Order: sequence, then C-alpha cells, then structure tokens
Amino acid sequence: MLQGKKILLGVTGSIAAYKSAMLVRSLVKAGAEVRVIMTDAARDFISPLTLSTLSKHPVLHGLSDGNSWSNHVMLGRWADLMLIAPLSCNTLSKMAAGACDNLLMAVYLSATCPVAVAPAMDEDMWKHPSTRANLNRIRSFGNLVIPVEHGELASGLVGEGRMAEPDDIIAYMNAWFTQRGELTGRKALVTAGPTFEPIDPVRFIGNHSTGKMGVALARELRNRGASVTLVLGPTQVPHDLTGLDLVRVGTAQEMYDACLACYPDTDIAVMSAAVADFTPDAVADQKIKKQAEGMMLELRRTRDILKTLGSMKKEGQFLVGFALETEQGRDYAKGKLESKNADLIVLNSLQDSGAGFGHDTNKVTLFDRKGGETAFSMRSKADVARDIVDVIVKNIRG
Ligand code: CTP
Repeated sequence: MLQGKKILLGVTGSIAAYKSAMLVRSLVKAGAEVRVIMTDAARDFISPLTLSTLSKHPVLHGLSDGNSWSNHVMLGRWADLMLIAPLSCNTLSKMAAGACDNLLMAVYLSATCPVAVAPAMDEDMWKHPSTRANLNRIRSFGNLVIPVEHGELASGLVGEGRMAEPDDIIAYMNAWFTQRGELTGRKALVTAGPTFEPIDPVRFIGNHSTGKMGVALARELRNRGASVTLVLGPTQVPHDLTGLDLVRVGTAQEMYDACLACYPDTDIAVMSAAVADFTPDAVADQKIKKQAEGMMLELRRTRDILKTLGSMKKEGQFLVGFALETEQGRDYAKGKLESKNADLIVLNSLQDSGAGFGHDTNKVTLFDRKGGETAFSMRSKADVARDIVDVIVKNIRG
C-alpha cells in the first residue's frame, strides 16, 4: 500500500527520534518516497546524515539554506501524507497555536495533504491538561493522532507516552491508505450545524449545535475517497475542508432545498445537522418593538429533511440519521430508524457529559436495520466519525 506514496516525515526533538531511522528505512523498503524535515532540537538526538542516507535525499532543515529558499508550500503539496514522528510536546503546542518559527511549522501550516502525528513524551507531560487540549485542538483541524504506547519512558518511569513502534506506525499508515480508497467513486451528502429561523431582521430561533460531528464525518468520508457535499448551517467555518463541496445555508428550508438538489445523485447521505423543527410562521420586515408585556410567536413545522430523503430513497442509497435524546434514547432511536426509513441511526445522549453539542468528544450508539446495536465509548469526534464510516462501509459492501 505504501508503494509509490510520497511521505514527508517531520522529526522533532525527542529521545524517540532514534526510531526515525528505522521508520525511514521501513518506508523506503515498502516503496515509499521519503523526504525528511528536522527541527533544531531533533538534530541533537539523531544525525541528519543518517536520515539523508536512509531516505536518499538531503534532509531539510531551515527556511533558507544559504542562498536558496526551501519552498515549504510545494513540499506540502508534493506529499500524499505528512507524518510528524516523533511529535514533541513543544511542536504539538505550536501546531495547536499555529506558530511558524521553523521550516517544519511552515510546511505544516501550508500543507494541503493530510497530516498524521506520532506523539512521544513522558507520562506526566502526556496527561497534562494543556497536552490534552492541544491534542483535541489538532484533531479538530483534521490531523490524525497515532496512539502512544505504554512502556518504559526516557525518564526511567514506566507509563503512557512512548511513541508507537515504527512497525506499528507503518501498519497504521498501510491501514489508512487502504481505507482511503474504500469510497472512491461514491458521492456523499452530509448536513451539519444548526439552522437559524428568523423572527425579524435581528432575531432568530437557533440551537447550540456547532457542526463539529458533521464536519468530522464529512472529512472522514472525503479521506476514504468519496466526493462529499457538506451542507453547513450558520456556524464558524472550520479548518480543513479541502476537497469538499461546501454549501452554506441559514434556515431549515434552505438546508432542505440544498439536500434535495443533490440527493438523487448521492450514494451516502448523513443527516447530522440539528435542524430546527419549528420556524416562525411569518418573518417581520422590521425589528419587532416591545410594545406589550408579552408576545405570542406563531410557529409552524419545518420540513423533515431526513424523512423526505427516506421516502425518496432508491436501491443502493444509504441513509444515516442522528438522534439526540435526553431520555429513552434506545426506543426513540429505533423508532426513528423506522419512521424516517433510515439505514442507520446514530444516538447520542445529552446525559453523557462530554457528548453532544460543542464538545470535541462524543459517545454514540449505532442502530441498524438488521437489528444491530453497537455502543462505542467516549472518543474524539474524529474517532467517532471513523467508527460511523466503518459501519457505513461494512453495510454498503453487504
Ligand atoms: N432532521 C431533518 N430535518 C428536520 C429535523 C430533523 O433532517 N427538519 C434530522 C436530523 O438531521 C437528525 C434527525 O432528523 O438526523 C433527528 O430526528 P428528529 O426526529 O427531528 O429528532 P428531534 O429533533 O429530536 O425530534 P423529535 O422531537 O421527534 O425527537
């Protein structure tokens, strides 16, 4: 799977940098083309000569080397995957903050290719709240985090934080490149975010959705090769939407129109938006003044997009809906599978702290039409997206 793949390897200052030599050797042996960028601190741990010899290319280090300027923009466009291994705590914090003080960071910030990282640090650093927050932040940018291992650390202590072994990193990359092609040729439609229903020119009815789960799903479907249309409600436009067809909408009606326009051509539709169920019957032309002590707002039901798509569904189309419940989640989720003619319902419960609106993590249970029920533990939304897409792929393959 790595044959002919272009891998840009970033090496940062960590004792685990010695493993980079094995990593480069294994990548080259597997047929990959490897270019290495080292930070200043990395050169204290392993010689550039070792990595240039093994990669068969000069190691890149500075933004300029003497008279010539290293074209950091082209490096990120050249690569199929940028892998930072080992990833030090310091470079992690720079990635989270967007600092640009060396060639590696300039390449990372301008890279259009996917980025994977293999962190390496002592257990106390690994568990520090700032490290946790930085990891969540780079995950929210779409970066892939290769799990650390438990074992002996540079400090002599035993614990979590060891960089994954080169063989495990290679296995991770192989699996990632294999999955990448799984949905090639398929079209996917994803809705995400809230909808805002106007009351007058300054007010609206909305909800707390940020669209993070839907965006993570859109990225995951794209990463596996699908061509994805993301219909995104009024929320901040996230980073890493490269290659996605982004359609911005405001109201439930606009989301409905956008979805119906592309559904006939769609193979996989994932309705993760928190669409308003009701909208003001009439929108005032001018700002409503507070004349009385109270006021009544006449609301009418919005069109149910998921249900409409369910009623139009043809052979070969796969439809996923979400259910966000505060009680009796299982029963409601199973009911929605039937009433909306969906193939899969993703249930998340507002009762789980860390799950649902605005969080970077989520805890879901999936219900399918064959009676299957799979509960997952609390994970990053990127990992949850991977779990959901795994189930979609399994189902459409039959
Ligand atoms: N949905 C939709 N169009 C709407 C409302 C919801 O497509 N107008 C979709 C959501 O994207 C989600 C699923 O339907 O996939 C949620 O189902 P729904 O029955 O609307 O859930 P609730 O809003 O919780 O409504 P209920 O009061 O029936 O539980």
